[in-house]
Amino acid sequence: MASPIGIFDSGYGGLTILKGIHDRLPQYDYLYLGDNARAPYGNRSFDVVYQFTKEAVMKLFEMGCHLVILGCNTASAKALRSIQQNDLPVTYPDRRVLGVIRPTVEVIGDITKSRHVGLVATAGTVNSKSYDLEIAKFYPDIKVTSVACPLWAAIVESNEADSDGAEYFVKKRLDTLMSLDPKIDTLILGCTHYPLLMPKIQKHVPKNVTIVEQGQYVSSSLQTYLS
Ligand code: DGL
Repeated sequence: MASPIGIFDSGYGGLTILKGIHDRLPQYDYLYLGDNARAPYGNRSFDVVYQFTKEAVMKLFEMGCHLVILGCNTASAKALRSIQQNDLPVTYPDRRVLGVIRPTVEVIGDITKSRHVGLVATAGTVNSKSYDLEIAKFYPDIKVTSVACPLWAAIVESNEADSDGAEYFVKKRLDTLMSLDPKIDTLILGCTHYPLLMPKIQKHVPKNVTIVEQGQYVSSSLQTYLS
């Protein structure tokens, strides 16, 4: 039997990635690891995110996965490259770890018309500038404006996504983003927890803005990779 595909996130967020992947590729088995005990990761240092992510990946390898998807932007931004370049060649040269930022960036140029893109993500992802750098490589004409939303993942992890408090913080950050660049026509949800706030996000972005959820793009990229 083929080995299961591992999916990792700091907590619940990666389930939005797992759903996208499972919908497209139901023929595989999956193992999901959410590190709820230590979530959120968004405000943690590079070293801590790297250490926690490495532990999770090694655990999924021990459980039989040969391929692990980091269903977490913060881990993709802060740990993916080190794991791919430093750890895999030494410990598991025949196994693979993939992230969620690249597959998202690749499609952005086909979605935005105004060439003004907004990013909401954890402080870790925003400060890493991973999206800015990747988008600049693929689409140098696109202007990216980012706003960190330090509380959003914590709100989801605390099962408060439907609360009035969640609404307040979602509106506040989206208003800030749109005031920084009113020409934004495409909004990247650059944290896998954020689709779980979708009704509130939809309510507080202008109707002309396309909201980019990662699950479908990560799954399509994975399909291509596997074939
Ligand atoms: N869901 C994660 C992400 O995509 C991490 C959120 C957090 O733990 O702060 O960035």
